[in-house]
Amino acid sequence: MPGVDVSERPCLRETPTAIDGFRLWKSALSPDQQRALLAEVEAGIAAAPFYRPTTPGGRPFSVRMTNFGPLGWVSDRAGYRYQPHHPGTGEPWPAIPPVLLQLWDAATGWLEPPDACLVNLYEAGARMGLHQDRDEADLRAPALSVSLGDAAVFRIGPAEGGRTTSLRLESGDVCALTSAARLARHGIDRVLAGSSSLMAGGGRLNLTLRRARC
Ligand code: SIN
Ligand code: FE2
Repeated sequence: MPGVDVSERPCLRETPTAIDGFRLWKSALSPDQQRALLAEVEAGIAAAPFYRPTTPGGRPFSVRMTNFGPLGWVSDRAGYRYQPHHPGTGEPWPAIPPVLLQLWDAATGWLEPPDACLVNLYEAGARMGLHQDRDEADLRAPALSVSLGDAAVFRIGPAEGGRTTSLRLESGDVCALTSAARLARHGIDRVLAGSSSLMAGGGRLNLTLRRARC
């Protein structure tokens, strides 16, 4: 992007949370960095368009999805899994934008890079029910999530069930499920339409970086 210094490092000042293992960095990406990342995502989705997956039971998700990286998380009647190609085009997923790999290093310190980046698009009315991320081979590796666009109400609670907590994730925020929270149940209750001007036409993007394979 002309005039944007994308070499500026993300501002990783961690915001303490009351949830063991749930790590949060508010405003980790500046508005310029958010715009630069959005441009990279748009370039990726030109090759790997958003599609609407279905649950194994055949219900359509309200979010649309695509992936970047060697492996992408997919869901259909055959179940949840990681696969190396887009289910619609049959092509390999585009590469993970380098800025996300740098963010993974800086935020998590995990030695191996992520091999999967799920991209969720929340349009009007989309939400994500409470679930656990457990399709990865090594559940010790963190899951790192980047929010862009409209703010969302994120809900998180213990793996074994029980009380959940809600917090707002805003454009540029980064959070991670690590250690005791790696199997936390989490989801998006709702997206606050009109809360960000980042994306023309509104909506929310979430990028989740994970290690699908050991
Ligand atoms: C997810 O858990 O797959 C998405 C979480 C989010 O959109 O912030
Ligand atoms: Fe998740």
